[in-house]
Amino acid sequence: MAMLSIDRTRCRKDGICAAECPFSLIALTGEDGFPEIRPAAARLCIRCGHCVAVCPHDALSLAVMNSDDFRAIGNGALPTLKKTGQLLTSRRSIRSYQRQTVPKGNIEELLDVCRWAPSAKNEQPVHWLVLESPETVRRVAGLVVDWLRTGTTYPGIVAAWDQGQDMVLRGAPHLLVAHAHEESLKPETDCTIALTCFDLAATSCGIGTCWAGILMSAAAAGYQPLLEALALPEGHRLYGAMIFGYPRFPYFKIPARKESRVIWRS
Ligand SMILES: Cc1cc2nc3c(=O)[nH]c(=O)nc-3n(C[C@H](O)[C@H](O)[C@H](O)COP(=O)(O)O)c2cc1C
Repeated sequence: MAMLSIDRTRCRKDGICAAECPFSLIALTGEDGFPEIRPAAARLCIRCGHCVAVCPHDALSLAVMNSDDFRAIGNGALPTLKKTGQLLTSRRSIRSYQRQTVPKGNIEELLDVCRWAPSAKNEQPVHWLVLESPETVRRVAGLVVDWLRTGTTYPGIVAAWDQGQDMVLRGAPHLLVAHAHEESLKPETDCTIALTCFDLAATSCGIGTCWAGILMSAAAAGYQPLLEALALPEGHRLYGAMIFGYPRFPYFKIPARKESRVIWRS
């Protein structure tokens, strides 16, 4: 079966598919000027599906992607800049959580939309580890504190832990770890983007998040007890982590931030 199939009754030879292919693998050089795919596509196609998704005439299908998996975008589906801006500016790093856990179905919904996060060469290398129970999150926080005890960076956090206060994972009910195979193209960037998508999606439905930077440092330092507890698949590394749950307190104001620093050049 050909990699790209053209429905000649629908195709208008408008060249949109060719223009949008990231690696210029489509050209209007087929019989009668219809689009055809270059042989190099077998090697270079990144399976982004753009050629199919951008065709206004529904004239294309790809052997490597099921046509039924392409969903219609629909009209007017995008939020306004005002609404998107409200989401981006009013999201906060949440450090106090309710005890109530987030239902697994809701977490699955959030992770599902993160599948569309951009990734280098559409590799989609991101995998997730979800710590579902507050007890497990606390145990992992304890391991991070054990790592902190081996250094001198955050004595206050260690002292707080010893007095019953978790300043590492903040008593959150859940921890989300983004991991990927270390031989992926841009695993750290891809995991960071996916986690950022999760952060925004979670905020949009009343779930708070906060980056777990100290845990990320402990993992990056190769602290074995933590890595063993997380037990990521062979060859995978932790590239980002976030706590999440229902916020204990609502925020009433958007704090000020630095002005945009932009160099404009014409
Ligand atoms: C990579 C990264 C690591 C972070 N690590 C921590 C952390 O370990 N603990 C924490 O309380 N906040 C952490 N934060 C949250 C920042 O402190 C927070 O984003 C910043 O203060 C701005 O606040 P806002 O997110 O509410 O706008 C981290 C943020 C990022 C982006």
